[in-house]
Parts: sequence; C-alpha cells; structure tokens
Amino acid sequence: MKISGCLFDLDGVIVDTANHHYVAWKSLADELAIPFTEVENESLKGLSRLDSLECILRLGNLEVSSNKKIELMEKKNQLYLQIVDAIGPDDILPGVKELMLELRNKGIGICLGSSSKNAISILKRIGIFDLFDGIVDGRNLTLSKPDPEVFIKGSKILGLTPSECIVFEDAESGIEAALSGGFFALGIGAEGSLKRAHANVQDLSDVTLEKLQVLVDSHESN
Ligand code: BG6
Ligand code: MG
Repeated sequence: MKISGCLFDLDGVIVDTANHHYVAWKSLADELAIPFTEVENESLKGLSRLDSLECILRLGNLEVSSNKKIELMEKKNQLYLQIVDAIGPDDILPGVKELMLELRNKGIGICLGSSSKNAISILKRIGIFDLFDGIVDGRNLTLSKPDPEVFIKGSKILGLTPSECIVFEDAESGIEAALSGGFFALGIGAEGSLKRAHANVQDLSDVTLEKLQVLVDSHESN
C-alpha cells in the first residue's frame, strides 16, 4: 500500500494533553472518593467525555442521574480548560510539525481524528490548525473510539479509502478503531505498549514519510 493519507489523533499524539485530561479526571474522581490512578486511566484514553465519566463512575460503583453526569462533565471540562490555558506552540510533541510539513509538501492528505470537543481550540492554540485538510472531532461523532467512525469519516474527507491511510494513535481504543476500520495502525508510545498496532514508534521525532512507508511495506511482507 502506498500511503496517501495520514489521520492523526490529538491528545497524546500531537500534544501532551492526554496527561492534562488525566489530571482533570483524577481531581474529579478524588472529589467523588473513587480510586483512580494512571493505571485505570489507560483504558479511558481515546474515549469520549461521557464514556470516560461513565467508566470512572463504574470504578466507584456510583450511579447518578443524567443531569448529574452533565454537571460532572462540565466540572471536569472547566478544570481541563484551566490547565490547557497555558499551552502553546512549544507544547507540540517532538517531530509532529516537521512530519506534517513534509506530508503537506508531498501531497499527502492530513486529517484529525479525535474524540475531543476541544480539539479545534487546542489546534489553534498550538498554531497548527492550518496544516489540516480535514477535522473530525468529538463534535461530529455519534460513536466513540473503539468504533472506527472517526477515522472512516476522516478518510472520506480526504477522498481516500482506509487502506490508503495511516492512523497515528497513542490509545488502545484508537488502535482498535483503526484496525476495525481497515487502516494501518501506528502505535505511539513507550516500548511494549499498544501491542495490537501494526507498527510502533516511541514518538514522531525523526519519523519521515519514507520511514513510514518502510514500516507499512515491512508489515505487508511479513
Ligand atoms: C480524547 C482523549 O482525545 O478526547 C480523552 O483521549 C478525552 O481522554 C476525549 O476524554 C474527550 O475530550 P473532551 O476534550 O471532549 O473532553
Ligand atoms: Mg490520544
């Protein structure tokens, strides 16, 4: 397969906001006296705001009304927004912007595939919104990762089929979404994580289109 499109998750791939989401959820969980650590947080990565809250409530065996859920989500989001208020272009993760600029130069389509409703404001804050040909985010999704809807919509915006696109993901739910949608799934994270991905890198520093194509080709020849 020749790479024609790249679909980027946001939190934990483009910028380290995955940790900021954790800090905000942790604060809410503490208030509710629900035990919640980075271990439990791993399975929340990539999920929508509501799915994340429901996971946390299940951890504490807590049942609350829909109105209470809205109130709790709003509280978490306000805290998250306070934390990300400080982020800027310096917070783009290593190699991301360089890779995107190369992809644009070479005519490869770039689309965002994020569950976050805050995605556009984060991209504008870090100054790379204009590098995207398309945006799919939490505002226009009916199903959260691990459903492939987010990436299927992204590939359609680029005018491509899933088999022509790579998905960049730091979350298990996102890797599953990519796999079930028929995309090449590139896992981004510490060695040994995201074992279901087709290929893995620790971060995007020094990742070029040529290196990506080598990863795809070597997976295909296996
Ligand atoms: C995903 C994050 O990108 O977006 C999740 O991995 C987060 O941790 C989800 O819960 C929803 O984000 P938001 O900004 O809409 O609350
Ligand atoms: Mg992520």
